[in-house]
Amino acid sequence: MKKKIAVLFGGQSTEHEVSRASATSVLKNIDQTKYDIYPIGITKDGLWFQYTGKLDNIESGEWEKDQFFKVPQGQKFLFNKEVDVVFPLLHGLFGEDGTIQGMCKLLNIPCVGPGVMSSAICMDKIYTKYLLENFNIKQADYVVINTHEYAENKDILVETIEKKLGYCVFIKPANGGSSVGITKAHNREELILGLEEALKYDRKVLVEQAINAREIEVAVLGNDYPEASMPGEVIPAKEFYDYEAKYKSEASKLLIPAALSEAKLQTIREEAVKIYTILDCAGMARVDFLVDKETEEVYLNEVNTIPGFTKISMYPKMWQATGKTYGKLIDELIELAIERNNK
Ligand SMILES: Nc1ncnc2c1ncn2[C@@H]1O[C@H](COP(=O)(O)OP(=O)(O)O)[C@@H](O)[C@H]1O
Ligand SMILES: [Mg+2]
Repeated sequence: MKKKIAVLFGGQSTEHEVSRASATSVLKNIDQTKYDIYPIGITKDGLWFQYTGKLDNIESGEWEKDQFFKVPQGQKFLFNKEVDVVFPLLHGLFGEDGTIQGMCKLLNIPCVGPGVMSSAICMDKIYTKYLLENFNIKQADYVVINTHEYAENKDILVETIEKKLGYCVFIKPANGGSSVGITKAHNREELILGLEEALKYDRKVLVEQAINAREIEVAVLGNDYPEASMPGEVIPAKEFYDYEAKYKSEASKLLIPAALSEAKLQTIREEAVKIYTILDCAGMARVDFLVDKETEEVYLNEVNTIPGFTKISMYPKMWQATGKTYGKLIDELIELAIERNNK
């Protein structure tokens, strides 16, 4: 019998649009002879619909107006156990953060990607740091700021950041993605503006020393025996890899394999698997590094448990470069979800 796969897209995060593009790519590449597919769209307001219309309408967002092909209460396919596996292509909060994973766990439906705890930790850039620093994983120096502390002690906090990190720094909402709310500050004025911008998205903000780095990413796949892909490199079109450089600008370049020595590539692959294992990842994750342009020191940047799957995204491309087609990758992800079965 064909397995029934619910592909979730959209969602309530700042990465709603990216999610639609990821899901469209997966839906176009999944082998329909093997699976019955249930695309389920979640609006920005959190309403769930099964969507049976054109795939391109998912990417463009027009699916929401396509009344004829929209079945309300898309959750019912999960709650009534009408699907065998959930493939959440929801980036960011309410999808990549353990919430959907928790729902699947309660319903006892296998879900592609890491489980509740791992998803929640990897979503939070601050907790990822807290955890990994116990395992000697190199990361950029940082300072954590909370909303109420900032309101009460702004001047002292700004001085603390300057003393500990100097300039330049990156300012990031703790739970974010696709660079939304992230800025680079070259001076005090930009630091204050950046903190205020990031605090619009989260009550916790991470301020990080800027590394003069190349951006190297590794795709990891597996449960108990994870494998790392050939590392890739992104060369942003702008000063850093912001939202526009990621999705809008044609000038950002992707290079697979990254232009590093064999030995360095191997070290980075091993480091990626080590980090994946410490963070209790399962199924998949993309582990992103910053590699110092001069010293080639390797810093962990972040771990994405539902990496982009758009047609220009690194995760599927790095697997292709490692000999795994898009279709095969999807098959393996579904098998890994079933094998783990929420354990
Ligand atoms: N400490 C840092 N040093 C240099 N560049 C950084 C640093 N932190 C982030 N960046 C740049 O900002 C981009 C987005 O930051 P990242 O932490 O990956 O957030 P997101 O989860 O939104 O992708 C990175 O791809 C990189 O270009
Ligand atoms: Mg990133």
